[in-house]
Amino acid sequence: MKTMKITGQRGLVEAVLGLALLLGVFQSAYSIHFEVKDPLNSTCISADLFINFTVEYKVADKQEKVSFSLPNTASTDASSTCGKENATAPLLVIKFGNSHSLSINFTKLPLHYQVDELVFTYNLSDKELFPGATENGTKEVSSKNTAITAATNYSYKCVNPHLVAMGNVNVTFYNVSLEAYLNNRTVSLNATSCSEDTQPTSRPTTPSTTATPTTAPITPKTPDMGDYSVNTSSGAACILAKMGLQLNVTYIKKDDKEVSYEFNIDPKHVAVNGTCSNSSAVLILSSDIVYLLFNFTLNATASTFYLGQVFVNATVPDSKEPRFIVDSDKLSYLKTTTHKSYKCKSKQTLEIARNFSIDTYNLQIQAFDIDENKFGPAVECSEDQNGMLVPIVVGACLAGLVLIVLVAYLIGRKRSHAGYQTI
Ligand SMILES: *[C@@H]1O[C@H](CO)[C@@H](O)[C@H](O)[C@H]1NC(C)=O
Ligand SMILES: *[C@@H]1O[C@H](CO)[C@@H](O)[C@H](O)[C@H]1NC(C)=O
Ligand SMILES: *[C@@H]1O[C@H](CO)[C@@H](O)[C@H](O)[C@H]1NC(C)=O
Ligand SMILES: *[C@@H]1O[C@H](CO)[C@@H](O)[C@H](O)[C@H]1NC(C)=O
Ligand SMILES: *[C@@H]1O[C@H](CO)[C@@H](O)[C@H](O)[C@H]1NC(C)=O
Ligand SMILES: *[C@@H]1O[C@H](CO)[C@@H](O)[C@H](O)[C@H]1NC(C)=O
Ligand SMILES: *[C@@H]1O[C@H](CO)[C@@H](O)[C@H](O)[C@H]1NC(C)=O
Ligand SMILES: *[C@@H]1O[C@H](CO)[C@@H](O)[C@H](O)[C@H]1NC(C)=O
Ligand SMILES: *[C@@H]1O[C@H](CO)[C@@H](O)[C@H](O)[C@H]1NC(C)=O
Repeated sequence: MKTMKITGQRGLVEAVLGLALLLGVFQSAYSIHFEVKDPLNSTCISADLFINFTVEYKVADKQEKVSFSLPNTASTDASSTCGKENATAPLLVIKFGNSHSLSINFTKLPLHYQVDELVFTYNLSDKELFPGATENGTKEVSSKNTAITAATNYSYKCVNPHLVAMGNVNVTFYNVSLEAYLNNRTVSLNATSCSEDTQPTSRPTTPSTTATPTTAPITPKTPDMGDYSVNTSSGAACILAKMGLQLNVTYIKKDDKEVSYEFNIDPKHVAVNGTCSNSSAVLILSSDIVYLLFNFTLNATASTFYLGQVFVNATVPDSKEPRFIVDSDKLSYLKTTTHKSYKCKSKQTLEIARNFSIDTYNLQIQAFDIDENKFGPAVECSEDQNGMLVPIVVGACLAGLVLIVLVAYLIGRKRSHAGYQTI
């Protein structure tokens, strides 16, 4: 009777919680909370997360697979640290059970931060978790390809499962809200979402399936147009841009084959950042898979601006290197007189490096002196002017044809008149 009552109560509790979950009210209450503080008790890392693990291990001479979730008894290990500015990086170490731990290493880049490395340490002697394990003692696996990144002062959010594969261990995060470099702030309401949330169709399959199939990258459709601006602290724009962007990266895959991979910048899913100074204006578009920086330079003596530098840091599929990084700072593209804007409706390819190019579509861009936060008079690219050539030539041909017909008609009339006269 007693057990009946308990299960009955649990059923009710589950129904209530289920309803709450359905309403999305208590979703965060389900995650396990971790915090890292510095010696002065100011919080530098705050994390709410759920993690499922799948570990393959040896039993006799067979491979067994076990799946378990991070228990809610998991806690922040004392080895966690806020690090020291410019010296050591912040680190969150989560410990649970009999000496199992997950350490999450952060690094900061100019305008975003990321999980640099994930290390999972597990104790095969824990026969409750790893029944029948042949080996005992602790093992360690790690990954530097976590694709967990957010813009500075933004939190990282990922509701859908986000898989980090580490050989025989799969770590799947879900319902995650995470922020590092807090400096005692509360977690930001602004969030960078993971690609699993922003592109639900490309969600990975269940984490229990081991190898994810590597489909050959296909050329994506024409990119969507984005409107981007970077403002000075006084609110005046120093960069105004309207453009569709497609990136073409060439890299070495895990199987040592070189491939080209094209992907679009989706304006709806990038954070826009930047800086304005007297002689350089920087536009940064970032998401969890790409960080793209355009640096415009002002030549004050010539009264021109141009694209002088492009930096990219991207995650590309099945790559041998954890990240695709290119930094080209000797460029001279889109050169335009100040107070004017550069316009190119045609697709234009900017060769940034041997292994990296950017295709722009419907581009209009202006940097530095921008009057009334609006584009100045447009300077058209040569591609568009060549495009104008065709209608001009066709028009001229038509005009010529009309003229010939007219002349032929007049001559014909004159001849027939002459004919009548002779009769
Ligand atoms: C930090 O917080 C802990 C626990 O709340 C407390 O024991 C400790 O004295 C605090 N340290 C400082 C420097 O405030
Ligand atoms: C691993 O687990 C076993 C059994 O639970 C325990 O006795 C041992 O102390 C653990 N190893 C470490 C390094 O703590
Ligand atoms: C570890 O493994 C060895 C042999 O494989 C065994 O003799 C020993 O008892 C094991 N230790 C523990 C703590 O399970
Ligand atoms: C994680 O594991 C729990 C319990 O094993 C399961 O109910 C849940 O669906 C899993 N979630 C994901 C995202 O794999
Ligand atoms: C810059 O200012 C314009 C107009 O004042 C505004 O619409 C735009 O959102 C601002 N851009 C940023 C990145 O704050
Ligand atoms: C991408 O770049 C590679 C290498 O430069 C080139 O061979 C390929 O044609 C480019 N793809 C597209 C769609 O332009
Ligand atoms: C930038 O411009 C401001 C205002 O025009 C001026 O006060 C400042 O000295 C300039 N800085 C540099 C490094 O030229
Ligand atoms: C932009 O380029 C200028 C040189 O033209 C350089 O001084 C500056 O550091 C660059 N900015 C960034 C963010 O790389
Ligand atoms: C600026 O333009 C002038 C004239 O075209 C040129 O001589 C000079 O080298 C340019 N300066 C820079 C820093 O590019």
